[in-house]
Amino acid sequence: MTTERIEDLTDPTFNPYLADELVFGDMLDPYPRIAELRAQAPVVEGDFRTLMGIPGQPGDEGRPHYLVLSYAAIDQVLNDPAAFSNRAFEPTLGAAFGHTVSVMDPPEHTTYRKILQKAFRPQVVQEWGTGIVAPVIDELVAAFRHTGRAELVEQFARPYPFNVIYRMLGLPQEDIEVFYKLTIAQIITYPSMDNALDASAKLGRYFKGMLDRRRADPGTDVVSVIATTEVDGEPLPDDVAISFLRQLINAGGDTTFRTTTALFTGLLTHPVQLDAVRADRSLVAAAVEEALRWDGPVLSSAREAMRDTVVDGVPVPEGALLDMLYGSANHDATVFDDPDRFDIFREKHRHFGFAFGIHNCLGQQLARLEMSRAVNAVLDELPNVRLDPARPAPHMRGAMMRVPRELRVVFD
Ligand code: HEM
Repeated sequence: MTTERIEDLTDPTFNPYLADELVFGDMLDPYPRIAELRAQAPVVEGDFRTLMGIPGQPGDEGRPHYLVLSYAAIDQVLNDPAAFSNRAFEPTLGAAFGHTVSVMDPPEHTTYRKILQKAFRPQVVQEWGTGIVAPVIDELVAAFRHTGRAELVEQFARPYPFNVIYRMLGLPQEDIEVFYKLTIAQIITYPSMDNALDASAKLGRYFKGMLDRRRADPGTDVVSVIATTEVDGEPLPDDVAISFLRQLINAGGDTTFRTTTALFTGLLTHPVQLDAVRADRSLVAAAVEEALRWDGPVLSSAREAMRDTVVDGVPVPEGALLDMLYGSANHDATVFDDPDRFDIFREKHRHFGFAFGIHNCLGQQLARLEMSRAVNAVLDELPNVRLDPARPAPHMRGAMMRVPRELRVVFD
């Protein structure tokens, strides 16, 4: 029998809403230190979490560990999945989400990725724009539109992508509070794994029920597509479907929240650029790409070297764990002029905000659509929106998954 209602964590004393500083580091700006390291070499021995004073991840004790820093080095690793494996994620994302595409290598990854991509076809994403994203924005903005001021992190950017996903999944209102708590708890894998595993198991049972109901009575929603799509005449195995749904919430919710906030921060702290976008909405797309490059949330990712190899001229031994510093490549001055500056007018160049290669972000069309709609809505609905001059200027914070504590604005 599958569970209908969502079950809360077994440990009632555990609070998953630990401060971001504790989970992702308290450094105001990690980019100068990263630039120093990149100036030493394109790939440097070391591990990012220790360097930034963040508690370590399980599974990497005593292993050779390297920071991949230059644009060319990141590009090389992402384009060579045979030499650089995603099994590096097994002790972390694999433990929290299960056997998801992020921990797979080809040929398994190729098969499942193709199926999941069906659920995110451009036409489907466009339909979500009208049917799901627009009403979520209307609801959030309606709560403060007439007040003349707002705090955009908590009143808009954080709930926004999560509310989109709840609607995509068709989650009943009464399950949302516990559901959100479990999604946050499932990725807090220290000081102990117990609560993460408890959250992951409970989300798994909940998703199993959802998949069974959709298989019995399919609709056109994303869960129905995942529940009913076949690979060589067989349905997607439950463990792959469930792990994908677990990942969807964190991969799609937290990252979009943080990038939307980076986008607002970049524009609001650069009023000339904000005015330009206000006047010419064809600039929104460039502003979205610049936010992803300037301070995208996935500052660091992971791969494992499958053989002795050389990355951008630096030897790396078989079995080494690689911290893939997309945030470093995105600030590589050999590719991006004055890279720490937020500049929506900079010359266009591919960035690694959504990574690249076979594991590039599956939700990127949705994320771009959500961010574009968010900027347009804020500019349309909050006339002359600007930073509240009575409050200190906002700063992105944290060594990874960065976000400002608050973003206070006023409008006419
Ligand atoms: C602005 C928001 C987002 C950012 C910055 C972002 C970033 C990324 C990055 C950098 C990766 C590659 C990680 C790696 O392999 O090193 C990735 C993968 C992925 N993302 Fe996103 N993401 C965002 C939104 C979303 C959304 C909205 C969804 C789904 C609804 C999503 C689903 C996924 C999935 C399933 C993967 C794994 C793909 C694979 O391994 O084949 N992401 N994302």
